[in-house]
Amino acid sequence: MTGLTRFGISIPTKLLRRFDALIARQGYTNRSEALRDLVRDRLVEEEWKAGKGEVVGTVTLVYDHHVRELTQKLTELQHHHHTEILSTLHIHLDEHHCLEVLAVKGKSMEVRRIADQLIGTKGVKHGKLVTTTTGRALA
Ligand code: NI
Repeated sequence: MTGLTRFGISIPTKLLRRFDALIARQGYTNRSEALRDLVRDRLVEEEWKAGKGEVVGTVTLVYDHHVRELTQKLTELQHHHHTEILSTLHIHLDEHHCLEVLAVKGKSMEVRRIADQLIGTKGVKHGKLVTTTTGRALA
């Protein structure tokens, strides 16, 4: 970190009260850390929108492995995108359901496309892409 800057902001009292209540529920002990996290979150969002650099994320999938050819399709997709898919965690939830978490890295458009393909595969019951950052551009 390259030093801290203090600054004052004006904010409607009601809005600040709601913000304080929110961050208290989230376990923050002070506004500064909560505000820094909000700023970082927006910057990561912009990294994804800009599409220039490398981003990282995770794709979470829940599916029934008994659905015909589903496991095979998902495995094929993952092999096809082996450059972007870094690692996979597979958990057998019960007799039918599998939970899979994939760590992905690459250009945001490409990562999003791969996530959409995986999540959109017929038989996947739920899927979500969590967008995060390599951390290099954040203080
Ligand atoms: Ni399984």
